[in-house]
Amino acid sequence: MTAVPSGHPTDDVTRDSMLAVTTERDGIVDEWFPVIDAADVAPGSWHRFELLDERYVLVCGSDGEVLVTVDTCPHRGAQLSLGSFDGSCIACPYHGWQFDTSGRCIGQPAHPGIEPPRVADLKPIAVQECYGLWWVCVGESPRNLPVYDDYHHHPGRTISLGPKVLQATGPRIVENFLDMAHFPFVHADYLGQVPHTEVRDYDVGVVDGELRFTNCVFWQPNPGPTDIGGGDVYYEYGVSHPYAARLTKKPTLAEGDSATFSLLLMTSPVSETQCRVWMLTTLADPAGDLESFNAYNAVIFDQDIVTVESQRPKLLPLDPRAEVHQRADRGSTAYRRWLSQRGFRYGTTP
Ligand code: FES
Ligand SMILES: [Fe+2]
Repeated sequence: MTAVPSGHPTDDVTRDSMLAVTTERDGIVDEWFPVIDAADVAPGSWHRFELLDERYVLVCGSDGEVLVTVDTCPHRGAQLSLGSFDGSCIACPYHGWQFDTSGRCIGQPAHPGIEPPRVADLKPIAVQECYGLWWVCVGESPRNLPVYDDYHHHPGRTISLGPKVLQATGPRIVENFLDMAHFPFVHADYLGQVPHTEVRDYDVGVVDGELRFTNCVFWQPNPGPTDIGGGDVYYEYGVSHPYAARLTKKPTLAEGDSATFSLLLMTSPVSETQCRVWMLTTLADPAGDLESFNAYNAVIFDQDIVTVESQRPKLLPLDPRAEVHQRADRGSTAYRRWLSQRGFRYGTTP
């Protein structure tokens, strides 16, 4: 049995009332968010996590069945994961109420011999496993997971990075992932190099509800694993989820399709201004070294953290007049419009 603490308990009334204001006014609650690596969820283990200003616990029974519920006892609100779990029975630390791994209340020690009423049961929350992660949706009408077809096109060729905790809002983190103009500065000598700073025009559109940037070309000093000189790199971006984004990168046309790889960035909001972030990398080349790509991406990711955490305001402004744009920002302004038109508010300012 293991309990994995993450972040801080959410226990003050102010934050609870803010939750009512911030999440009930938009559809963010109906999105799926990653909460834990599937490899970390062993039968008989349980794991705390926080999502959208609430605390939860993921419980994996000895039989492998997974339950996610609010980490708060329905009796007097104690934190369940401070109690015990033996693989089949969760026991609250306060008055010892017992629950099975379907959430059913099976015992109230103050009244032995009496069957607990169903109102004492834990309420299960939607959970599923995909892309090597467990995903949770706290709303009533779950939408689709972020689209990431390459995970299925190249079985066994995906590696995961994270979760990394950022003191930043999901939309700022996604927008940074969609931005090429920062490469020569934040990622000098990795993804860009002065004086090769020009962002050439690229195409922005919406296909089947997904935001797409295509024909993105940028000069990079070391475009691919087999290159030793600078050259143009070809990118495509896709956004089908407000807190996630995908890119496909062809290091150079000369290297052909085998050098192509894809990334899926997923931000899981603990709160409006703190996220846990995962990044998946998928290689088309069956001989490509996944570990070295992950190590490289970890360096790039860490370079981004300082500037993204420094951004003010913390919440992404959706009003086009709130920040000054340049031509290269066509993609990020389209992302802001896309969020605005779909009514997403969490992590943004209108
Ligand atoms: S608060 Fe959990 S049993 Fe009383
Ligand atoms: Fe970056």
